[in-house]
Amino acid sequence: MSDLGPVAWPPEPIKTERLVLRESEARDRAAFIELLASPEVHTYLGGPRARDDLERELPEVPERWPGSFVVDLDGAMIGQVLLRRAMHRRPTATGKTDLGYLFLPQAWGFGYATEACAAALDWLDGVLPGEPVVLTTQSANVSSMRLAAKLGFTEVERFHAWDAEQWLGLRSPVTPSA
Ligand SMILES: CC(C)(COP(=O)(O)OP(=O)(O)OC[C@H]1O[C@@H](n2cnc3c(N)ncnc32)[C@H](O)[C@@H]1OP(=O)(O)O)[C@@H](O)C(=O)NCCC(=O)NCCS
Repeated sequence: MSDLGPVAWPPEPIKTERLVLRESEARDRAAFIELLASPEVHTYLGGPRARDDLERELPEVPERWPGSFVVDLDGAMIGQVLLRRAMHRRPTATGKTDLGYLFLPQAWGFGYATEACAAALDWLDGVLPGEPVVLTTQSANVSSMRLAAKLGFTEVERFHAWDAEQWLGLRSPVTPSA
């Protein structure tokens, strides 16, 4: 996957009712290690990475690239929202922007992921009007499937990959009214 092409980055931090979406900073490193080493977070994502490897290999400022938002609650990172140009194994998704999201388990169940992803998609609508967005998740990942539906994604296809059934959803671009 590559980044978002011509979009100016980073934007001003995006503020929602409860959250701030901003670029990664050095102070987020410990939370990134928690996120990437968490077996719970990676139940449907092919397994976590080893904490020792992450401690050694993660850059001082992790995951700083155009389209990578740290989700901040009261000054602390609770998750990451990722927007990338999809170089996808599915032809229906190639070239479109792909949405991903990972939140620390202690932040699940409060609607933060919905709030953060909706804000990131609003931002994208502003900088790349008409951009279609795709999302891939294991169909067994019930929370993620519910989140996709709340964000307005509808099913394009299901396919088998990484030893599981995958769901590919599309959020159609907002069509300006005539
Ligand atoms: C997918 C994931 C982000 C979903 O997190 P989540 O917290 O369930 O998602 P939401 O932000 O939509 O929160 C919804 C829950 O908050 C509850 N909630 C509480 N207060 C709320 C509020 N003010 N507004 C909205 N929902 C609220 C909802 O009732 C819902 O609970 P339920 O699941 O028991 O019905 C999270 O499970 C995760 O990080 N998983 C690991 C990574 C992953 O699998 N990513 C997908 C691959 S891209």
